[in-house]
Amino acid sequence: MHNPGFAIQTREPCMRRVVFNQKGGVGKSTITCNLAAVAASQGQRTLVVDLDPQANSTRYLIGDADPGAGAAEFFGTTLSFAMRAPKTAEYIVETPFENLHLMPSSGALEELHGKLESRYKIYKLRDALAELASSYDEIWIDTPPALNFYTRSALIAAERCLIPFDCDDFSRHALYGLLESVKEIQADHNAGLEVEGIVVNQFQPRASLPQRVVAELIAEGLPVLQPYLSASVKMKESHEAALPMVHLDARHKLSQEFLALYQGLAA
Ligand SMILES: Nc1ncnc2c1ncn2[C@@H]1O[C@H](COP(=O)(O)OP(=O)(O)OP(=O)(O)O)[C@@H](O)[C@H]1O
Ligand SMILES: [Mg+2]
Repeated sequence: MHNPGFAIQTREPCMRRVVFNQKGGVGKSTITCNLAAVAASQGQRTLVVDLDPQANSTRYLIGDADPGAGAAEFFGTTLSFAMRAPKTAEYIVETPFENLHLMPSSGALEELHGKLESRYKIYKLRDALAELASSYDEIWIDTPPALNFYTRSALIAAERCLIPFDCDDFSRHALYGLLESVKEIQADHNAGLEVEGIVVNQFQPRASLPQRVVAELIAEGLPVLQPYLSASVKMKESHEAALPMVHLDARHKLSQEFLALYQGLAA
């Protein structure tokens, strides 16, 4: 008879990913939340960490609900002389979706930024996520459109980096600077960080510019992931309804693309 007391722990260790691109509006929050939602829907215990003061991922996952203490309070406690160091789990909330938790963001992160930058708290997130490693199978970090304290914290805390790309010529040139930034973080703080790949977003197969730009990336040897994510008005609906695509319409083309993209990511 099977004795649960002797069950072998078969889960892989917690995978930490950051979604990063300094350019605004390329799909960081969309990709973070949708891939995390796919992971959670497949039974992975999943955490999204929203480090963008715009709080787009937070709204996408929990709507207008008041999230309570989140990322700002997590970083902010370093500035006070609390009697008891709170556990990281106290800054995490459940979402309406099974297996999907969130460290929410708020505008307070913006105000805190300058103070944090002047102190050496850049490893705080990495250490906190290490503390959560046995509670989650996957951690997905959404970053603001800047290479600031929060983004650096995330790049230091993560093992893999996904770079959303919006098929624009300017974005293509910006990619090289971005990859240099990742190299600097690798050299100075996090030798274990890998660029997992470039996620082509809002791809329009019938337009010639996106095709050319993506072909150039591939020709240059950059790790472009498959499949490309289509542009669809359904995405706006998904954000408005605070329902990631897998929950809004699992059979939609974009949902299938997120699923295939997730499945293609090496575990
Ligand atoms: N595949 C898609 N099809 C249609 N619209 C999309 C798609 N991906 C993202 N969008 C839309 O593009 C906008 C920007 O996406 P998102 O907020 O995910 O980008 P971001 O990189 O996180 O932006 P920011 O840099 O401001 O944080 C949103 O309105 C989103 O609904
Ligand atoms: Mg965003």
